[in-house]
Amino acid sequence: MAILNIITYPDKFLTQVVKPVANIDGALQEIVEDMIQTMYHAPGIGLAAIQVGVDQGIIVYDISPKEPGQTLNVLINPKITHGEGSIVSEGEGCLSVPDFTSDVKRFEKIQVEGLDRHGKPVCLEADGMMAIMLQHEIDHLNGKLFIDRVSQLKRELYKRRRLKQLKNE
Ligand code: NI
Repeated sequence: MAILNIITYPDKFLTQVVKPVANIDGALQEIVEDMIQTMYHAPGIGLAAIQVGVDQGIIVYDISPKEPGQTLNVLINPKITHGEGSIVSEGEGCLSVPDFTSDVKRFEKIQVEGLDRHGKPVCLEADGMMAIMLQHEIDHLNGKLFIDRVSQLKRELYKRRRLKQLKNE
């Protein structure tokens, strides 16, 4: 297992639409294990493969990471098949977007289909915090960051601040 480097904005790698995972094999399990370790280490409540340089449809998440492992989940090739209602995700943030949070409009309830880490089809319904996190992570697989869902002005201001920050690093 290894802690992987998390790619950050404005790296263009994050804007790719990922490829679906084709083989549920040992290599996949290794990526999943590394992603889990990287997420807990960050710490974060969710992580998409694209954030660690893997352009495949994999997300790992644990929205109550106080007891690591208990509420951990992995989804392969997840897709939102239904969304309803509207909720404001307050102060949303992302490991790939350092030092920035913003309110984001999200579906209140969603239905997601995908595979578990062993390739078994899963269909789940989520609302509240879980629905927000899943929409955020699935956005990553479509090359989208949460800052793409805030006003252009806010995004531009952040971009300027971020570029300055990177120059000084
Ligand atoms: Ni994120």
